[in-house]
Amino acid sequence: MEKLNISITERTTPVVLPQNLGFGQFFTDHVFEMDYTPAKGWHNASIKPLRDLELHPATMFIHYGQAVFEGLKAFKTVSGEVVIFRPERHMQRMNNSSRRICIPEVDIPFVLNALNELVAIDKDWIPTNSGEALYIRPFIFGSDPFLGVKPSTNYKLIIICSPVGAYYPEGFKPVKILVQDEYVRAVRKGLGECKTPANYAASLLAAEEAKQKGYTQVLWLDGIEQKYIEEVGTMNIFIRFKNEVVTPMLTGSILPGVTRDSVIRILKDWGENITERLVSIDEVISEYKKGNLLEIFGTGTAAIISTVGKLGYKDTEIVLNPVEPGELALKLFEELTSTHYGIIEDRHKWLWHVEKKQVEVI
Ligand SMILES: Cc1ncc(COP(=O)(O)O)c(C=O)c1O
Repeated sequence: MEKLNISITERTTPVVLPQNLGFGQFFTDHVFEMDYTPAKGWHNASIKPLRDLELHPATMFIHYGQAVFEGLKAFKTVSGEVVIFRPERHMQRMNNSSRRICIPEVDIPFVLNALNELVAIDKDWIPTNSGEALYIRPFIFGSDPFLGVKPSTNYKLIIICSPVGAYYPEGFKPVKILVQDEYVRAVRKGLGECKTPANYAASLLAAEEAKQKGYTQVLWLDGIEQKYIEEVGTMNIFIRFKNEVVTPMLTGSILPGVTRDSVIRILKDWGENITERLVSIDEVISEYKKGNLLEIFGTGTAAIISTVGKLGYKDTEIVLNPVEPGELALKLFEELTSTHYGIIEDRHKWLWHVEKKQVEVI
């Protein structure tokens, strides 16, 4: 297996984490980088000090969007251990995203080892207050300087890390979501299930318009009939009816969330009636009117669990728990965060324990 070269900047002063971390504003001082060429495959793996990138203006991904990314988190447990939540699953998803847009896949064990070293080197950047974590952002982009639509021949993989606080400024307070029937984010057999920039570009205008109307995010409907609910900006969605918890089935236009998968497993453990199926916005509204809609919540790495306090759709407003988070959402949030911070047993072996291994330092 390829050797990982590491050049570390020795810190002369300890890391001082900012008071208000927010989300995605601060970065640790090292990055992992690796290159791909058809002749050598993935090679040139290194961990080095964070630096700006210098790119040719014709670099292909800037023009044609051939890029994928991931978002996962590392935590410091109450006993001081460093853990990463389900990194294999995230790397598998990155390879799935890559396949769909002609990016060469990576060797998962190799990248996990690199991730292990990177997080170990920057472990002093992991914040420890409740809701805080080290957000890890691996990404790959087509790096050829070329104008013309085709897959790039060369690629670069980079992993950067960012100490973060709560994703939503509201913290764990119910968010307001607008059901989007004006624009479409993704269609089946398109790119919806890939974590690729195009999906996020497609979401920006709708999210801005929703914000102007006082909403936190949008809930997307399916791209064909605008009938079935799909997912929220950067979260999957769960609806708790009186006798069933439902999450939209993975039809190809929804990102298969790692938190979604974890929540389904936990709900099954708890004996909840959890179903993955098509669920229309009309069904949600009619169950609400009948008094059968108890909770709506989103799931995602960034916010973990986010309760929906208000859902707007055309001229209907569904108002749920306007002040307090929903009961099941709160229970799930506590279960997941207690797992992250090592407060309860990691029953599903979701935590990857970061160990500082002996590596060659150049
Ligand atoms: C569009 C979209 N849906 C859902 C999610 C939730 O996925 P996960 O739980 O893997 O973070 C994310 C975040 O990555 C996302 O960007």
